[in-house]
Amino acid sequence: MLGTDLTILLREKRALSSSHNEEIEVIDAPHEELDITLEDEVSDFISRHTPDIIINCAAFTNVDKCETEREIAFKVNALGPKYIAAAAKECGARVIHISTDFVFDGNSDSPYSEEDQTNPLSEYGRTKLEGERNIQNHCNAFLIVRTSWLFGRHGTNFVEKMLELAGHNKELSIVTDETGSPTYTADLAGALWTLIKQECEGIIHVANEGSCSRY
Ligand SMILES: NC(=O)c1ccc[n+]([C@@H]2O[C@H](COP(=O)([O-])OP(=O)(O)OC[C@H]3O[C@@H](n4cnc5c(N)ncnc54)[C@H](OP(=O)(O)O)[C@@H]3O)[C@@H](O)[C@H]2O)c1
Repeated sequence: MLGTDLTILLREKRALSSSHNEEIEVIDAPHEELDITLEDEVSDFISRHTPDIIINCAAFTNVDKCETEREIAFKVNALGPKYIAAAAKECGARVIHISTDFVFDGNSDSPYSEEDQTNPLSEYGRTKLEGERNIQNHCNAFLIVRTSWLFGRHGTNFVEKMLELAGHNKELSIVTDETGSPTYTADLAGALWTLIKQECEGIIHVANEGSCSRY
């Protein structure tokens, strides 16, 4: 979902870039082309292309499946970022890594800040937090962007699922105790572009404005 919107945006920026200095080359790496859980392939791919910036949008994002398919969740969400970070360090690339509000326990009544204590309650959150730590420990220059409740035109999301279910069921039961900031992937792609241009580093929270419950 995010990777596709980001690729579209970067290609638009490339088309608009006029001077040679600003020229952007975009190399997308869909799952079929690169499996981030294979260390040698990650290293090969990155050393072949020697990118200036690597943006990791790949993840095992099915929160429920992460509980039952723990090994694959750990490989994709924790080990993949480690391999990317190590290969980035070798070629001097900056890494932009996408993470999640699931690294927190959700008990706060107000929005989380970057300084707040992490405390993941799910396997998805735990593996994503381990991925963050691997990025921090294994590469020189990084930005970790934590976002929340993504929706977009490409891929499955909560809104689409609700519309589909509403087509079959007369009544839907939706939780009322989960509140978050739904974030449009095209907006997040735009924010990533700004952060890249400003050469931001460290950890930053990025979401659309406003909040609502799932209900
Ligand atoms: N969705 C949300 O609500 C949400 C909220 C907060 C943060 N995030 C984070 O935002 C980022 C983007 O999320 P998204 O919703 O755009 O995810 P998505 O639509 O589920 O896309 C994830 C992509 O990762 C690919 N992938 C999975 N395993 C891989 C592997 N081993 N090697 C290479 N690629 C692999 C998937 O390919 P296949 O489809 O072929 O498996 C898919 O293309 C992720 O880091 C996610 O944790 C998401």
